[in-house]
Amino acid sequence: MKLEALSQALCLLPALLPLIEAAPTRRDSNPPLRGSEALVGYSSTENIATGSKPDVKYSLLPGQKETPDIGAYLDFEKVDNPQPIRGSTGGDDPGPRNYYYDRINSDKLAPPGTDNGQTINAQWPFGLSHNRLGIDSAGWARQENTVVMPDATQMAGVDMRLEPAAYRELHWHVAAEWSLVLNGSCRIQAVNENGETFVDDVSAGDVWFFPPGIPHSIQALDEGVEFLLVFDQGDFNEDNTFLATEVFLHTPKEVLAKDLGTTVAAFDDIPDDELYIFAGTAAPKDIEKQNVTTASGVIPRTESYSYHFSEQDAHEVAGGSVKIVDPLTFPVANNFSAAIVTVHPGGMREIHWHPTSDEWTFFIQGQGRATLFTAPNAATTFDYRAGDIAYFPQSNSHYIENTGDEDLMFVEVLQASQFTDMALGQWIASTPRQIVKDTLKLSDSTLASLKTEKQYVVAGSNTTA
Ligand SMILES: *[C@@H]1O[C@H](CO)[C@@H](O)[C@H](O)[C@H]1NC(C)=O
Ligand SMILES: *[C@@H]1O[C@H](CO)[C@@H](O)[C@H](O)[C@H]1NC(C)=O
Ligand SMILES: *[C@@H]1O[C@H](CO)[C@@H](O)[C@H](O)[C@H]1NC(C)=O
Repeated sequence: MKLEALSQALCLLPALLPLIEAAPTRRDSNPPLRGSEALVGYSSTENIATGSKPDVKYSLLPGQKETPDIGAYLDFEKVDNPQPIRGSTGGDDPGPRNYYYDRINSDKLAPPGTDNGQTINAQWPFGLSHNRLGIDSAGWARQENTVVMPDATQMAGVDMRLEPAAYRELHWHVAAEWSLVLNGSCRIQAVNENGETFVDDVSAGDVWFFPPGIPHSIQALDEGVEFLLVFDQGDFNEDNTFLATEVFLHTPKEVLAKDLGTTVAAFDDIPDDELYIFAGTAAPKDIEKQNVTTASGVIPRTESYSYHFSEQDAHEVAGGSVKIVDPLTFPVANNFSAAIVTVHPGGMREIHWHPTSDEWTFFIQGQGRATLFTAPNAATTFDYRAGDIAYFPQSNSHYIENTGDEDLMFVEVLQASQFTDMALGQWIASTPRQIVKDTLKLSDSTLASLKTEKQYVVAGSNTTA
């Protein structure tokens, strides 16, 4: 036995030789993965640099030199080497760092002195969401839900693109779906539990709503379409909807044949995988051709799933404009209340909170910042850009200030039967002066200047310019 083992080892020797020879050379040129145990603890040889601090070259913006509580917006996009400094707080950053993030998130790098403690994370950029690409170059979809924003529990969102004539496959889901068309136009259709039918064309600025469980489809018209979807469940997953292809694929063909009164062979050509987002035959220009009218009739206008919000003029206010769509005018959209807000440069959506609902916000255009204040004393300031989502929990106060030089536009979505907010300015102005004076030590002239009307969006000079 011993001899046999020896002869086997000898046979392997030629194969091992190159490795044995190569090893010493490798050790010379390439250090091993781990160092020596002698590196543990005190080192008499280590060469610690002594001398003066390296010269980090930077200049501060005017607002950066002020008392931190003033908290002006710092436009770091115009700064070579932005620094985490406000007045006498902070210190320089020699790196390593990501200048891209630091430049567009100045309120994170150098927060106002009024920020404190830890709030929820109230920001998610769709640009950090995984994008699901559709087949046949038909489009894409990306989502935000509690996987990426754990505290955004009441609502989730999807940003979806369909190329011309592409479909979002026939489907339904457990959540209710509210949508704002962002670009282009599409045809939407559905059938409700009474067998009543619905079909309509919607374009940028219009809104639709599909109640839970109501099957529907979306097809892009000539220019293609991009839309925002908001769901009334924070953990909604766009990948887990009930698709027409899948319900057919996962029902015995014998059962399908019996159910639809046909033969098993009728299902020979059904797709062998889901389609989800896919290319289609262009919708007929004349919508009447797709107006299926049955004995059950069409869904009555008052219960229609679309609202032509693009045709509603915005209500002008000092710093911009506001327009609201909620169940008072769009009754079928049970519990979805929304406002599209435009804020001119320098202006600000006033400090407010929503008494009965969390707020899910999508930035459509421009840039802005908001401070989320959470009782008793936590506050975080976030910088937002078009394509970002903000989330403010129920009754947590916030404002949204335009920090750019173009109009800022966003949509606030609530889970409420009516769009309501509590404005800080109106509250304080409508409270007996003595009470306010005793509490906040505001002067008589300040108290006299307060406005009892709700402002929605206040005007202001563009302090960032
Ligand atoms: C839609 O997208 C096109 C191409 O980016 C753009 O030119 C157009 O202004 C957009 N329309 C709206 C309503 O945003
Ligand atoms: C579909 O037909 C019904 C019944 O004729 C009509 O009331 C409805 O307006 C039509 N819908 C569309 C989108 O043309
Ligand atoms: C509306 O949404 C709120 C917040 O999610 C919820 O508490 C309430 O029950 C909902 N109301 C209806 C009628 O669905």
